[in-house]
Amino acid sequence: MLVVISRTYEEMSRAAGQLVRDRLLQKPNLVLGLATGSTPIGLYQELIRMHREEGLDFSWVTTFNLDEYLGLGPDHPQGYSFFMRENFFKHVNIDPGNIHIPNGLVEPAQIDEYCARYEDEIKNAGGIDLQILGIGRDGHIGFNEPGSSLGSRTRVKTLTAETIQDNARFFERGEEVPCYSITMGVGTVMEAEEIVLLASGQSKAEAICAAIEGGVTAQVTASVIQLHRRVTVFLDDEAASLLKRKDYYNFAAAAERKFEDLRGGRRQ
Ligand code: GLP
Repeated sequence: MLVVISRTYEEMSRAAGQLVRDRLLQKPNLVLGLATGSTPIGLYQELIRMHREEGLDFSWVTTFNLDEYLGLGPDHPQGYSFFMRENFFKHVNIDPGNIHIPNGLVEPAQIDEYCARYEDEIKNAGGIDLQILGIGRDGHIGFNEPGSSLGSRTRVKTLTAETIQDNARFFERGEEVPCYSITMGVGTVMEAEEIVLLASGQSKAEAICAAIEGGVTAQVTASVIQLHRRVTVFLDDEAASLLKRKDYYNFAAAAERKFEDLRGGRRQ
């Protein structure tokens, strides 16, 4: 695992953007797993900038989003389809036919079948090459709340009170935050070839410390990345503030940059 600590959110987003661009240049038909939340917005802005200024091409890219609120349709302003369209898709040349986001309006009786189909679609696309993740304050990835099986697949998951409260900021006053979601499972995420996890701000410091330096546990589903063979964690100073081995991560990241040219790729 490589832990890259940047001074600011903007610097962190640029560093993550460079990794995504490198992978996209290596494989133009990249299959990207995408996350929502405020954290990856800077990364999406950086990719949009690269598309506009450098001609970064998304026309062969396929995307799979991690999750969606159950009950919110593709045009609901707080839904993740809307979020992705506004913050990323409509600004780049991605083929709308290659975009996959769980449908929050699926009929309850069809959900199991629907979730199995989402997994099949990922497999049929050749699997996810690069999965982008944020992290919840309780250490969740996607909507895999504490206690989610580390082998879980795409399914319905009930949100914790903390997550509902955290996400209430995106909803109108008085508008109810959904308490169910459809989310890729932890096991689904772990099958990606490569994972990038982003975290910014003091409110994520504890979750990051538990995920990176704590034990692997279903109580902090992000901790499962410790078992993955190819992970880069991008943090700003505040999110990294509780890490005990911060000095080593900085030393290793600097050494890694020196080796990169020689090796022609990232060491894990
Ligand atoms: C939601 C999403 C997660 C995201 C988390 C953190 O719960 N399902 O994928 O990582 O929010 O969001 P933010 O980046 O806004 O803190």
